[in-house]
Amino acid sequence: MIALIVAMDKNGLIGKNNELPWHYSKDLAYFKKTTKHKKVLMGRKTYDSIVEKLGKALPMRENIVLTRQPLKLKDAYVIHDLPSYLRKIPEEETLFVIGGRTVYEASLPYADRLYITHIDDVFEGDTYFPKVDFSKYRVVRKEENPPLTFAVYERKER
Ligand SMILES: NC(=O)c1ccc[n+]([C@@H]2O[C@H](COP(=O)([O-])OP(=O)(O)OC[C@H]3O[C@@H](n4cnc5c(N)ncnc54)[C@H](OP(=O)(O)O)[C@@H]3O)[C@@H](O)[C@H]2O)c1
Repeated sequence: MIALIVAMDKNGLIGKNNELPWHYSKDLAYFKKTTKHKKVLMGRKTYDSIVEKLGKALPMRENIVLTRQPLKLKDAYVIHDLPSYLRKIPEEETLFVIGGRTVYEASLPYADRLYITHIDDVFEGDTYFPKVDFSKYRVVRKEENPPLTFAVYERKER
């Protein structure tokens, strides 16, 4: 199963200067709890921004980094071909796509679930989540924790 996990403001903003435009410890805790012991796939820029913050890749998760460069990373598995990687994920395994924009956009057609933290506020930034046709999804979970809503969407059918 392929799942996208993202936090966005009311306008779909997700990033600013290669960082998150906000800090919500409750969302970071939710992200950690949801993705722990799973595979997490990210674009090279998101990987860089995580390493800049933590000094390393995300702990307790198998980090996979998408890049066009011939990179060798000591704490992450590097891939270059997203569609062929996604097609090999077995149904019983969950892969979380954790951003950023370019990787969300390319993975969206393959996504079975969307874990979206909706932030009931408007921020400044430069990177937005791609447009989602929510009519193709049903809400399977919604937890209000103002100003955050933790929502899970499941694709109705392919
Ligand atoms: N709000 C959230 O939940 C959330 C989550 C994650 C990230 N973000 C934010 O999103 C922003 C980063 O997003 P972004 O779109 O600029 O960067 P990104 O998606 O993290 O990384 C882009 C890089 O990924 C590689 N890449 C992308 N598509 C590829 C493909 N089809 N094949 C091979 N390599 C590919 C390229 O790496 P190379 O240049 O190395 O070739 C590209 O430069 C940051 O502001 C970050 O904080 C927000």
